[in-house]
Amino acid sequence: MKFFLDTANVEEIKKYLAWGVVDGVTTNPSIIAKEGADLEQRIKEIAALVDGPISAEVVSTELEGMLEEGRKYAAWHKNVYIKLPMTPNGLMACKKLNDEGYNINMTLIFSASQALLAAKAGAALISPFIGRLDDVGQDGMKLIEEIVYMLGNFDYKAEVLTASVRHPRHVIDAAKLGSHVITMPPDVLGKLIQHPLTDKGLAIFLADWEKLQNNK
Ligand code: G3P
Repeated sequence: MKFFLDTANVEEIKKYLAWGVVDGVTTNPSIIAKEGADLEQRIKEIAALVDGPISAEVVSTELEGMLEEGRKYAAWHKNVYIKLPMTPNGLMACKKLNDEGYNINMTLIFSASQALLAAKAGAALISPFIGRLDDVGQDGMKLIEEIVYMLGNFDYKAEVLTASVRHPRHVIDAAKLGSHVITMPPDVLGKLIQHPLTDKGLAIFLADWEKLQNNK
């Protein structure tokens, strides 16, 4: 399973890159706005650090604007994936940009039918937003299960990228269902390693070792 960080914060990216488990980065306009960053500069900065897919999202809602922005982003670095919203124009842009050889991440996916359309249009990544479904009382993980099962019947190149992740349980459940990729906020990646019994166990081991040294 590939782990992506859902952030544009360079310090957080550096911190978790050092763990050796980060395969890529996803951004969206809200994430870039939170950093107060210039999109081009920040994407280039991230691409210089991370040797893997870096998603940059278009803000145009018109087909021509999406195509123009997408081609511009892809020229910044070979690892840039063009992130497009699941709208009719986004779908058409996905087909066109995929035919031109670009990598596409179809975002704002909330149903299996949207995922199937994205796969047919040649998306490399399909991003169902599970946390936002949970937020409105639906079961986000059910959607991951349905999409992974459905795409398993065919040989589309699309990989399922579980997005809008809120906590470690989302990560484990998505892994059990066979989601190819998951993107998570840095704090969720940080929580994956934590367990109080690990800390307690280590403290006991070190205290016992210390006693042994003192008794020699
Ligand atoms: O990158 C898109 C997605 O992960 C957004 O997550 O937490 O804003 O629902 P969230």
